[in-house]
Amino acid sequence: MLSGRRIVLGVTGGIAAYKAVEVCRRLVDAGAHVVPVMTKGAEHFIGRTTLSALASEPVQTSLWDEASPIPHTKLGQGADLVLVVPATARLLGAYAAGLSTDLLTNTLLATRAPVIVCPAMHTEMWEHPAVQDNLATLRRRGVHVVEPDEGRLAGGDAGKGRLATPERIVAEVERVLGPRDMQGLHVVVSAGGTREPIDAVRVVANRSSGKQGYAFAAEALGRGARVTLVSTVELPVPSGAAIRPVETAAQMQAALDELAPTADVVVMSAAVADFRPVAAATGKIKKDAGVPEIVLEPTPDILAGLGAVKPAGQTLVGFAAETSDLIANAESKLRRKNLDLIVANDVSAPGVGFQHDTNAVTILRAGGEAVIVSLTDKRAIARAVLDIVCEIRAGQGSSVTDTAV
Ligand code: CTP
Repeated sequence: MLSGRRIVLGVTGGIAAYKAVEVCRRLVDAGAHVVPVMTKGAEHFIGRTTLSALASEPVQTSLWDEASPIPHTKLGQGADLVLVVPATARLLGAYAAGLSTDLLTNTLLATRAPVIVCPAMHTEMWEHPAVQDNLATLRRRGVHVVEPDEGRLAGGDAGKGRLATPERIVAEVERVLGPRDMQGLHVVVSAGGTREPIDAVRVVANRSSGKQGYAFAAEALGRGARVTLVSTVELPVPSGAAIRPVETAAQMQAALDELAPTADVVVMSAAVADFRPVAAATGKIKKDAGVPEIVLEPTPDILAGLGAVKPAGQTLVGFAAETSDLIANAESKLRRKNLDLIVANDVSAPGVGFQHDTNAVTILRAGGEAVIVSLTDKRAIARAVLDIVCEIRAGQGSSVTDTAV
């Protein structure tokens, strides 16, 4: 998705500067041309050699060390995006005030490309009204801000201010630069395995990690959609997604029954338990009472329920996790549950399905050709599926219903 895009990566002087190296590597891996710019402060934290070795060009640090007399305008004008990782309070202040004090601030003022800043600092600094006012000013001017995470900080204390993860930063880059073919759509994605309580401490669970659902959320956001994730797991939420934490099949059903009627696309990638204990014991079942008999009952088939009341124009995507007769079983689920598309995977194959970072799938659509996607990362699977979703919607002439983006 980032192939051939020119990204100026500004690195400022904070302890999180070392994480910019990982961001740089990921951007280059995704096909971007990364032009690194370091401030003087950044050089206290990482060496130029490290970033030069991983970026597409050697690091630049000064307005004065280039043969060309106008590198600041050149860098800013040629960029598809300027990304600052980490952005210190000083950088945010200078940028908000329009001060051109070094090559990076010059580049920021000279560019018309989108800008993403990723602040990182101690909690007290992050919360200071001056910093928050500067961020509000930058936001008002259209600068994208990847908010810091909460967590352990360099001084050993904890709080908000820790640089966002490289995943979140790269996802925001993809969102800002990505194709906008889902702009205006509301996409609801379910992710993870449900947990059905047996007693106060035990659950009936499954091996679903939620990674495929989160990859769908990130991909849909990257294409301009508004995304709501109904999730049983605690993975980092892709920047911009709304999250609905749930645990049981009943909670997932309630959330989806509420969200799906107005959604343009529903992707049901969660692994819903098919059976749950009829009643959960309120306390912990003690073992000296003997082996308990746990009576199970079927859970509602959430997806079949959504298919039965599917509104006109909605695209409903289901999954089929199979260990045999992949295509026949998936085709039957596609029809039975009134889906537009089903993503079938043989979860007994190596590297496929539950818990892996990779997947291999066959995508079946009502009345269309099967598309086989061989083993690849889950984001690429999401991309392939959403390509077909967009194709189906374009064929139906579906209109955009969500204008809140
Ligand atoms: N699904 C659901 N509610 C359930 C069970 C499954 O919404 N109670 C959804 C899953 O999220 C998935 C699709 O139905 O998108 C197919 O799930 P799968 O486990 O492959 O099939 P089942 O319908 O449960 O049938 P079986 O277990 O017999 O294969």
